[in-house]
Amino acid sequence: MAWPLLQVLLIAAATTAAASSSGTTPDGPAPWPEQFHAVLFTNLTNVSVASTGPPLRLHDLYYDWPRRRNLNLIRHQLSGDPLYDVEWNNGTTFYFDTATCRTLQVAVGVLPPGWLSGAAYLGRETTGGIDCHVWGKAGFIVYYEDALTRRPVRWNFLDVTGIQQFVMSFEVGVVLEDDDQWQAPAHCFLDDAANEDDDHIAVSNGITMDAARLFRNFAGAAAAY
Ligand SMILES: *[C@@H]1O[C@H](CO)[C@@H](O)[C@H](O)[C@H]1NC(C)=O
Ligand SMILES: *[C@@H]1O[C@H](CO)[C@@H](O)[C@H](O)[C@H]1NC(C)=O
Ligand SMILES: *[C@@H]1O[C@H](CO)[C@@H](O)[C@H](O)[C@H]1NC(C)=O
Repeated sequence: MAWPLLQVLLIAAATTAAASSSGTTPDGPAPWPEQFHAVLFTNLTNVSVASTGPPLRLHDLYYDWPRRRNLNLIRHQLSGDPLYDVEWNNGTTFYFDTATCRTLQVAVGVLPPGWLSGAAYLGRETTGGIDCHVWGKAGFIVYYEDALTRRPVRWNFLDVTGIQQFVMSFEVGVVLEDDDQWQAPAHCFLDDAANEDDDHIAVSNGITMDAARLFRNFAGAAAAY
């Protein structure tokens, strides 16, 4: 089945469910807590795009708004070398593993806790057995929130990667204190020519396909509104 059609059906189903539900509808998704640790199961559902890398990943997301930093620790299935995606509020992102590093400069900082404000309500739907309110924002994301606890449950990116992320755990207030984990390694700071040689293709491809990168793009787009 074509994926956009599935999306349309999903939204239709959610809308029908909402119409028959008697529960109250919140004004919008709860803002993200200022600090949390989430474990996300990631499925890059458009495998044609994913053909250069495994489509299944585990993300450890450490969101730290007071310190204006965000860390995604990305483990591809059965890979022993996790990828780090460390974002700073000055727009610098370091994307590295033990051998390679990419530094990106974007025009925006870390996503603010209220980044979902203004999202459009799509209805109510059960996903992973959890009763959720569903919102969409800017043709970019469909976001599922636990109707009971208001914790995030899942989101789907509406781009060619078809990345879907499922929140497996969500620990409010948990901070990654170990500064060594945030520090980009020495091989991120080599001169340009050497860095170029060190780059391998998996990382440079991965960069355009990863959820962390999509959030970064979204922050850029949102800032332009
Ligand atoms: C990942 O997504 C693909 C495409 O939708 C699906 O066929 C597959 O079952 C999913 N895998 C898991 C482990 O959820
Ligand atoms: C942004 O901040 C990080 C962390 O402090 C630093 O490593 C990086 O060099 C800074 N980038 C710029 C462009 O100043
Ligand atoms: C999946 O990826 C291919 C490119 O590999 C793209 O042409 C297609 O539109 C994508 N599918 C969806 C549903 O976005």
